[in-house]
Amino acid sequence: MPRHFPSQWLDELRAKSDIVDIVSAYVPLKKNGSRYWGLCPFHGEKTASFSVNPELQLYYCFGCKAGGSVIQFVMDMEKLDFAEAVERLADRAHMPLPEVREDPDWQRKRDQRERLLSANREAARIYHRQLFTPAGQKVLDYFKRRGLSDGVITKFGLGAAVGPWDAMTLELEKQGYTEDELRLCGLTVVREAEPGENGELPRPRQVRDMFRDRAMFPIIDASGSVLGFGGRTLGDAKPKYLNTADTPVFNKRQGVYAANLLRKARHLDRVILVEGYMDVVSLTQFGVEGVCATLGTSLTDEQARYLKRIAPKVYLAYDGDSAGQHAILRGLEILGNAGVPARVLDFPDGLDPDEFIRRDGPEGFEKLPVLTPEAYRMRRLAAEHDLSTQEGRTEYARKCAELIRPLEPVEQENYIRQLMVQTGFPREVLVAQIGVGKPQTAAAAVVQKPKPVFERPARSAVKEDRAAERAQEIVVSLLATGQLPADIAAAEDFTDPLLRSLYQALMDGASPASLVESQPTDADRERVSRLLLTPPSQDTNELIRMARDCLNTVRRERLQKELADIQREIPTLPPERKEEAMRRYMALRQELRRRQDGSGA
Ligand code: UTP
Ligand code: MN
Repeated sequence: MPRHFPSQWLDELRAKSDIVDIVSAYVPLKKNGSRYWGLCPFHGEKTASFSVNPELQLYYCFGCKAGGSVIQFVMDMEKLDFAEAVERLADRAHMPLPEVREDPDWQRKRDQRERLLSANREAARIYHRQLFTPAGQKVLDYFKRRGLSDGVITKFGLGAAVGPWDAMTLELEKQGYTEDELRLCGLTVVREAEPGENGELPRPRQVRDMFRDRAMFPIIDASGSVLGFGGRTLGDAKPKYLNTADTPVFNKRQGVYAANLLRKARHLDRVILVEGYMDVVSLTQFGVEGVCATLGTSLTDEQARYLKRIAPKVYLAYDGDSAGQHAILRGLEILGNAGVPARVLDFPDGLDPDEFIRRDGPEGFEKLPVLTPEAYRMRRLAAEHDLSTQEGRTEYARKCAELIRPLEPVEQENYIRQLMVQTGFPREVLVAQIGVGKPQTAAAAVVQKPKPVFERPARSAVKEDRAAERAQEIVVSLLATGQLPADIAAAEDFTDPLLRSLYQALMDGASPASLVESQPTDADRERVSRLLLTPPSQDTNELIRMARDCLNTVRRERLQKELADIQREIPTLPPERKEEAMRRYMALRQELRRRQDGSGA
């Protein structure tokens, strides 16, 4: 649910959510100078490189480079999205959400949401209890037959939908839930009466349970709410798995199955995405951590973005059958578009993860080949071409070359070796084929403009550019302390667009924490929190002196560039404009000399 919070309201929230307090609840912090230090909760470490800056209300880890505001911290720590983290903090600070003021309907919707969630939770409890009644015995037997332990049955809150066809509806109505509420959360199905025209018999209104004679898998979100259910038939009834349709509290495109367990797993270096509920339960029982599944649909963009927050890589562990293999290609595409590094776990003999781990155990699972997206796609291509013919090998080599063309040379190397063996083409031929990028479309050609790998700018120019950029960064970090006079710098001092926008925002009164949050990508957020977090001294005069120093470097650099440009330009100018250019050149020279003498600021 993408939501907008007014920036003033967010400022108030940040002011009421002291970052040192909140971080301390997770990580013991020690004060050292103006900062607090502790062991980074986002990567395993033995020496403290995680720092919290109470003045800027930002944190930064010098080890893993995680950084951001208090909201970012709660997002990462609790695996929440922005809106959820904001709600969590608002709750803690006893601040009503801004919607309360804006949307007159909001209170009603929130109350309804709570009613539906509580009906779901109650239903889950009843399903689970029924497992251990005589009527539920057949479902318990089914779970046992599939090798589930009591522990894992409890962990996932599995249950049994058994008994008369309206048992759950009646039970929940007895507890005070209305038919409307039960229909809205997908537990009850209502079929309106039909009058029976053309001699047919009239049919009365029917109210019955959605799930009957099924083994139940409650779908629980990161905060522990029951959003809906998946129910597996015990026999041959269709569909094999019946899932709650979308409701006011459940959107199957967004969540994943077992989100509640993902949240608790810390330091995951990958999450494993499987196809089925049973695969999640089964892998978890065998001790595999960080497993989840989509909810009866194929992977969506929303889920890809969610998984990106959980772990740095996603392993696709789909069934070894052809449907599963097809879903892998689709999944790789979606993960790729969302910028999530992906791998494929390769199950032998068409097995699904559940069948495999029962056969080969967790040891076998750990040893499964982990394929990169390219390796997986190459394997698919190899299966689609007849490599015993020259034509097949040629086409195969051509397609693989296209596939690995975007990779860096060192990454390409492994695949080139494999291709040499598979196709018999010598290395030079393959390298040449990879080098032949045919521009697919005009737009793609622009984006893929080949990077000049060997042509580098002259060394000293690079060095000076770096110095100037570094100086600009320092000025921004000094400005973030709020201790510098506003007129000390100007927008044109910042050549880097990001630095310039930070400067502008700081001048407009934005807080450093809000700047970090407003960055669109993780990389930008990391960069901004790193550069805002390094003000080296507390003394205002000292800060001003440093800023002047840096600005001097920046401006000198700019002058030098401009001088070089004019110098290059003068011979090409028409006579009437030459004189003007010369005058400008002399003025710039003078100004530069003044700065180099250190007299200008
Ligand atoms: P599978 O048919 O591969 O089931 O569907 P499975 O997980 O191996 O189930 P078991 O082992 O026979 O119990 C994979 C997933 O696709 C969705 C479900 O999420 C299921 O777990 N699915 C499948 C449905 O939503 N509806 C269906 O009718 C079938
Ligand atoms: Mn299965």
